[in-house]
Amino acid sequence: MLVKNKQELRGIVEAGKAVAVTLKKMREFTKPGITTKELDDYGRSILESFGAVSAPTKDYEFPGCACISVNNEVCHGVPSENRVIKEGDLVNIDVSAELNGFYGDNGGSFIVGEDTRDLQKLVDASQEILHLAIPKIKNKVRISDVGALIEKEAKKRGFRVIKNLCGHGVGRKLHEEPSEIPCFKDVDNTQRFQKNTVIALETFISTGAEEVEKHSDGWTFIPADGTSFVAQHEHTLIVTDGKPVILTKANGI
Ligand code: CO
Ligand code: CO
Repeated sequence: MLVKNKQELRGIVEAGKAVAVTLKKMREFTKPGITTKELDDYGRSILESFGAVSAPTKDYEFPGCACISVNNEVCHGVPSENRVIKEGDLVNIDVSAELNGFYGDNGGSFIVGEDTRDLQKLVDASQEILHLAIPKIKNKVRISDVGALIEKEAKKRGFRVIKNLCGHGVGRKLHEEPSEIPCFKDVDNTQRFQKNTVIALETFISTGAEEVEKHSDGWTFIPADGTSFVAQHEHTLIVTDGKPVILTKANGI
């Protein structure tokens, strides 16, 4: 969406805050022994306290509130009472919701307890690269230039990027124009960021695979090689002439 007045600004700020606080609390709630369903129910109760509704449920009939992806699941993991979180798991929680007609979207990967598989570097890379990319986003900057930066920084750290997942516009729906903000230099993408638009910038940093495919459950994306690990971090932003306004800062990412 394009933020055109104070009322719209207030609406999008509130939606960003609701999803950010929910994500932060869900991360803090995550511990070995709980199921992803319990974690999801907890998240829903926080969203409800803001009066917000899960965007994946509302817009896509997703069978859960937040997307919770564990280990080799990359994103859109479906919360389940059969999925018990264990020490050392790589967990990604992605919370997006609608509040009073406005949508916020944010996510983050983290390791539960001890880093038994040496994945902290991957998680740190994803978060650091998100924060390197954010200040590059300005009015009239090419979307592909930001993708190029994400890819370059990933390679510098010995990682790759997922090429068939991307960030996107957000605001009045979960997914809006610009429909693709990729993590690589997409030469076919000639679009530029536009002032006052709301976007969700996301990193998808991989230990190997460059593509994901849909799992047989119809929702979860897994790496094409089945074995790579992927970390994601995501903030919702308003594009300006200077540094973007981060609407999901309260998530602590
Ligand atoms: Co998201
Ligand atoms: Co998103």
